[in-house]
Amino acid sequence: MRAVDIIIKKRDRLELSREEIEFFVQGFTRGDIPDYQAAAWAMAVLLNGMTPRETTDLTLAMAHSGAMLDLSDVVERAVDKHSSGGVGDKTTLVVLPVAAACGLPVGKMSGRGLGFSGGTLDKMESIPGYRCDLTTEEFKRQLKEVGLVLTGQSLDLAPADGKLYALRDVTGTVQSIPLIASSIMSKKIAAGAQAIVLDVKVGLGAFMQTLDEARTLATLMVDIGRLAGRETVALLSDMNQPLGRAVGNALEVREAIETLRGGGPADFGEHCLHVAAHLLVLGRRAADLESARRAAEAALASGAAFEKFRALVGAQGGDVSYVDEPEKLPRARLVEVVEAERSGYIFQVHARLFGEAAALLGGGRAKKGDPIDHAVGLMVHVKVGDYVERGRPLYAIHANDAARLEEARRHLQEAIGQSEAPVAPLPLFYE
Ligand code: URA
Repeated sequence: MRAVDIIIKKRDRLELSREEIEFFVQGFTRGDIPDYQAAAWAMAVLLNGMTPRETTDLTLAMAHSGAMLDLSDVVERAVDKHSSGGVGDKTTLVVLPVAAACGLPVGKMSGRGLGFSGGTLDKMESIPGYRCDLTTEEFKRQLKEVGLVLTGQSLDLAPADGKLYALRDVTGTVQSIPLIASSIMSKKIAAGAQAIVLDVKVGLGAFMQTLDEARTLATLMVDIGRLAGRETVALLSDMNQPLGRAVGNALEVREAIETLRGGGPADFGEHCLHVAAHLLVLGRRAADLESARRAAEAALASGAAFEKFRALVGAQGGDVSYVDEPEKLPRARLVEVVEAERSGYIFQVHARLFGEAAALLGGGRAKKGDPIDHAVGLMVHVKVGDYVERGRPLYAIHANDAARLEEARRHLQEAIGQSEAPVAPLPLFYE
């Protein structure tokens, strides 16, 4: 077999066999197939697509490109959750402690932010000392002892995805449904999950811009999960406007802590309860969604979920005093409030522009490995459907540099749309 023939076959819109896909993935992982051939192949996949069968074979080939984590000696049922990426999405920081407080151990490997979308690891590293590089042994021990782990993707799991994702990022081939589905599901399968909740974001601040695209991606991932013997549920959730109010690492951690203490923005709390309820049902800790939801609410109200978050931070070397006193978390020097220039109903709070503004302020990275500023970001005070009087605050820019603040302000000029006619609020979930 030759890599070039596999590229040509995909270029000519033909279906690749399992053997061809395995050959390509294994050769690329070993370094026998160079980046330029993998890039050409990824572009052919982006342009010509893959059948569900090809996508499943690609997922399994990538999942098996490295070690496969087996958690059966640690937990009864290994569950996982994954968000397809968004703005202000700090859901994991609340959902995992809630699930753990309800007796469902969760060990999760998360990623870093890139471009406009935030990353859970960057958020957690706002807490001094917090480690995201646990070894497999540490991961398993903590999962057993604390019931909660939140760390980085181990390098030996699905290495093919690590390599391919880095290449896609610089070759304009991220936005491909089969490539996204196989990237996400290969990591989940390699990480040992028996049951998976997928939070597929749709809208202006998501990879999937339309409900149709998001549904296609979600259905494909659920099918892949089923074929791989993993129970999988996908939720389609709104990402036209940021989730909650905070966009930016430390600001989001503060909001998550507020939520774990029973406060926080209503939309974010509701979103977390819904995702947590699905996780509890898949994890066999609740018979149905209603009882799962009640358990999740009780875990928040009693402070048990907050205590789990404290235990997580402590176990991973983080300074727990920052959880107890979140005002100690990094703060930006400059805070500028942007006010409404007229009265009216909000019809748009453009999630992607807010995500990009957070990155411009230094809170995100343009390319892998860039350093980030944990303190900066935005606090967005309005939601689609709100009525706002002239002079009321729309959002606040938290910056550490006057020039960047100016850049973010300019970037956000069109981010908020107001109209005279009433506007319906956006749903949290579509399906
Ligand atoms: N998240 C992933 O893990 N992979 C993708 O391709 C896109 C989002």
